[in-house]
Order: sequence, then structure tokens, then C-alpha cells
Amino acid sequence: MLPQNNIPKDVGRKLLKLVLSRWKLLTVTLILTSIVSYISTIFPYLTREAVNLLYAGKIEDIWFYAVLVVVLTIIQGLASYGKNVFSEYTGQSIVYELRNRIYAHLNELSLGFFDRIESGQIIARATSDVEDIRRFIGFGIPSILNIIVMFVFSIAMMLIIDVELTLVTLSMFPLMVLFVRYSIPKYRAYVAMSRNIYSEMTTAVKEAATGIKVIKSYVLGDYFASNFRSKLLEYFNMDMKTSKLRAIIWPSMGWFVYLTIAIIYWYGGLRAISGDITIGDVVAFTLYILFLNRPIMLIGYNIVRYQRALVATKRIFDILEAEPEVRDLPDAEDIEIKRGNIRFENVWFSYDGKNYVLKGLNLEIKPGEIVALTGPTGSGKSTIAQLIMRLYDPQKGRILIDGVDVKRFKLESLRRQIGMVHQDVFLFPDTIRNNIAFGAPDTSIEDVVRVAKLAHIHDFISSLPKGYDTNVGERGVTLSGGQRQRLSIARALMINPKIIILDDSTSQVDAKTEAAIYDALTKHFRGKTVIVITQRIPTLKLVDRIIVISDGEIVEEGSFSDLIEKGKLFPKLFKAGREEI
Ligand SMILES: Nc1ncnc2c1ncn2[C@@H]1O[C@H](COP(=O)(O)OP(=O)(O)OP(=O)(O)O)[C@@H](O)[C@H]1O
Ligand SMILES: [Mg+2]
Repeated sequence: MLPQNNIPKDVGRKLLKLVLSRWKLLTVTLILTSIVSYISTIFPYLTREAVNLLYAGKIEDIWFYAVLVVVLTIIQGLASYGKNVFSEYTGQSIVYELRNRIYAHLNELSLGFFDRIESGQIIARATSDVEDIRRFIGFGIPSILNIIVMFVFSIAMMLIIDVELTLVTLSMFPLMVLFVRYSIPKYRAYVAMSRNIYSEMTTAVKEAATGIKVIKSYVLGDYFASNFRSKLLEYFNMDMKTSKLRAIIWPSMGWFVYLTIAIIYWYGGLRAISGDITIGDVVAFTLYILFLNRPIMLIGYNIVRYQRALVATKRIFDILEAEPEVRDLPDAEDIEIKRGNIRFENVWFSYDGKNYVLKGLNLEIKPGEIVALTGPTGSGKSTIAQLIMRLYDPQKGRILIDGVDVKRFKLESLRRQIGMVHQDVFLFPDTIRNNIAFGAPDTSIEDVVRVAKLAHIHDFISSLPKGYDTNVGERGVTLSGGQRQRLSIARALMINPKIIILDDSTSQVDAKTEAAIYDALTKHFRGKTVIVITQRIPTLKLVDRIIVISDGEIVEEGSFSDLIEKGKLFPKLFKAGREEI
């Protein structure tokens, strides 16, 4: 029922490994914690001595205990300061490491991973799950040690004072243990559920923020808000349920403590009156139990911390241990693409392993050829482009560049030699210059300007008050669709690739500018292989060869005029634009 409640056994081991990776820091924290806890257990004993002295009327001997209390308090204060600093440091250093590892690993992972997981889930794992581990290691573990030290020393002191009263006092403990055993697993299940809902909420907020334009244009604000409200309500209810359970668990632990105190009053009182023990002994026992009150309550709290950390560890390692499907083979090499010949040999590809998008595709693009891929939407054009870049690997068949299987290239070497403009333009929240020089940070401004001119965006950039230093928003909000497309063309040209792939890259650019861009590109790219994915007639007329893809297969190919005359699908696709021909 609860996917995240089924924690595999090895998760505990992974958490332990994380804990042990900070053993030096933890040792210091734990030594300081022990000092703080140990001193706490001395106070009731000192009070016992003081009460007994008072009872005997020896007021003059009390000053020794008074001074001792002050000295111990100072030592405890210093140790406590050190303990807090070290525990925070330990926790933060784990946060630092985990977030770094998650980020680095996300970079390694293939696109397939991101198709399967929602971004909200990734964000939640890098934020709140990491925090759960921090709390457990930074505060949970010292707190557990505090509890152990307090218990061991308190019970030792109590045994020194009176064995019988100690046994009576501890008679409540089995009940407490039973209570914890029953209530905590339930609590843990609730926590895991509210975590999940929290991730879904994060995703919903992110979607609303990124899709705000669509939401507003379609007047879907209310619809999304009500969806979000229902998630919010779900979280609210789940969190309330968790809180109610917590509100029962913690005070119940307190009741056991006060019940124990009542027993001490009654039984200890009787024995004090009969002269078996002193009044100071009864006072000391009462204080011990009161002192132990907090640690006892903290047992449950720490079990929860531990459970949360286990859930978090599992969720974080789901990311850290995800294997990149597309990765360098052991014998991958840096191979220079000299000619730019591209060949698909019987390529079968499916995103989900079930529905095949490409079914035995054979395709050859000659060096220096300018080819257009066209065809109905969803026919697999972008997929073909992504396979050349090895953003995914085909299930069957091979893709060769200059006769070499793309799998033999180092991924970095392959991708650096192919300039690809993706269908969905992404600009970084940075200057225009840095967005263009993105793949090559040391580029001179002259080079940036050169490619901007080729992409026909230079004039526009120059017209901006800050020119190339203009910042573009998170998703380039200050630029129009066409401007962003041209910026990303410039970015792809920057790396001076042997092969360039433009996926619907001028769909938002006006026809005249588009023609000018392709004119510049064909001149500039003489000798380079260019794949243009487009539905636009002016572009289709420019290219050497048009390949029509339908349902993942090549249905026809040829020049524009050939296809319009002899083609079957092609004329249908471009019927609406026929008058333009
Ligand atoms: N990341 C993905 N995960 C799962 N399925 C996908 C993914 N990307 C594309 N698809 C599916 O694969 C098929 C081919 O998609 P592709 O993007 O290659 O089409 P396309 O020809 O580029 O279409 P368009 O002209 O609309 O850009 C479609 O059915 C699409 O739904
Ligand atoms: Mg596409």
C-alpha cells in the first residue's frame, strides 16, 4: 500500500555508511554530548547530599555543593556549546556532500531517467529528504547517545543509592517499550505518506510556475487552483493525522513518567518514614525520573527521526544508484568526425520498451549533404535527431558516423562535435553572450558576434541597451520565441560542429529571416552535414534532399519538386501551403 514504507534491508546499511563517513566529527560530538549528559546525572545526587545535610542542620557544609554546582554548570555550558556547533557541522557536511552527489549524478543520468521521474520528486529528494538525514545524523545520533548516557549513569546512581527503590521505579519501563513498539510503526507510515503528498505538491507548484502563460491564456487558473487545493487538503489532512498521533504518543510517554513519580512518592515515602532510606534519597529519585522524562520522550522522537532518515536514504539512493543507460563504453575513444557521414542501420527504438517509435529504420546521409526530415507530428523526427547525439540508445541496430558506431565515441567527444538546436529552446538565466558561448566559455566576443550574425540575431542584440550583456530570464522570458530560436542556433554554431541538427529551429521566425538564416548557414556550412527538421516550405525547397518520415519509417524521399509531383504523403502534408510553391 505504501511504496516508501517498504524499506529494503540494505537501506539501513547505506545510512550507517553515511553515518560512519563522519566518524571523526561524530566522535567529537559524542564525547561532548557524553560530558553534558553525564553532568546532568550528577545534579540529583548533589541535591540528595544537600537535602540530607540540610535535614541534619549542617548548613555550613552546603557551600561546597553550591560551588560544585556552579563549576559543573560552567563546564556543562561550554561542552554544550561545543556539542551544538559540532553536531550542526556534522549535519551540514552531510547535506553538502549529498546535494553535491545528487547534482553530479543527475548530470550523469540519461534522459530516460528524467522521462520517468517528476522534477518535483527530484527537488524534494535534494531538499527535504537531505534535511531528514541531516537531522538524524546531526541531532538524532547525539540525542540517542545523550539518552543512553543519561540512562546508564542515572540508573547506576540510583542503584548506588538504593537497589529496591530502583527496581520499583523501573517497573514501568516494559510498558513504555510496548507502547513505543506499537505506536511508532504507525507514525512512520503516516510520515512516509505525507512525504509523498509533499512531493506531489512541489511538482504542482513548479508546473504552475513554469506553465503560467498557458494557464492564464486558457483561463485555467481556477482549474489548477482547485487541483492544487485538493492536493493541499490531502496534505493538510495527512499532516493533521500525523500531528494527532504525535500528540498522543509524546504525552503518553510523559504519563508513564508521572505515574512513576507517584510510585516513588508512595513507596519511597513509606521507606523513608520507616528510616530505610533518607529524604534526600526520595528527592534524588524524583529528580532522576524528572530528568529522564525528556530523554524518554526523545526515544520516540529519535525513532521517528531514524525512520524518516531511512525513508530519505532510500529516496536519495534511488537517484544516486540509478544507472545511466547511456554511458561511455570501457573502450570509448575521442574520435574526430572528419567527413560527417551518418548511417542508421536497421534501428529499432522505443522510449518505454513497449511501443516502438522507430521500426527498423535505415537511413544514410552523405557528408556535406543538407537534408530535411519532415513528416507528421509524432512520426519520430526528433527521436532520430536525439539518437544521433546518443541522448538515447536504440534497442536494436546501429547508428554510424563516418562508419564508426556512435557507441564507440566518448559521449563528450560525440556531443561536442554535433551542434544541435533542440525543438524546445532553453536559455539559462544569464547574459546573451554567455548563453551563446555556453559550450565554450573562453570564447572571444568577436566569435560570439560572428555566430550571432549567421543566426541573424546580431542586429536585435545590438539594439538592446546592454547588448550582449543583457540578461535573459529564467526561460528567456524577455525574448520572443523567434529570438530565442535564433539565439540557440547561434549557440549551436559556436562550437563549429561538423554535423548540425536543427530541430524545428525556425518555426517561429518569419519566412524572410528564415530564408536569410538558411542562406547564411548553407554558405557557412559548405562541406558540413546539416539535418533540418522542418515543415516549412521555403526551407524544404532549399535542401538537397527531403526525407519524409511517417510512423518511424521513411515513406518517401527526393527533392521538393520530385515529391510534390510523385510523392504520396508529401503533397498531402503540404496541401495547405500549395499556393506558396
Ligand atoms: N521522452 C519521451 N518519452 C516517451 N515517449 C516519447 C518521448 N518523446 C517522444 N515520445 C513519443 O515518441 C513518438 C515520436 O516523437 P518525436 O518527438 O520523435 O516526434 P516528432 O516527429 O519530432 O514530432 P513533432 O513534429 O511533433 O516534433 C511520439 O509518439 C511521442 O509521443
Ligand atoms: Mg519533434
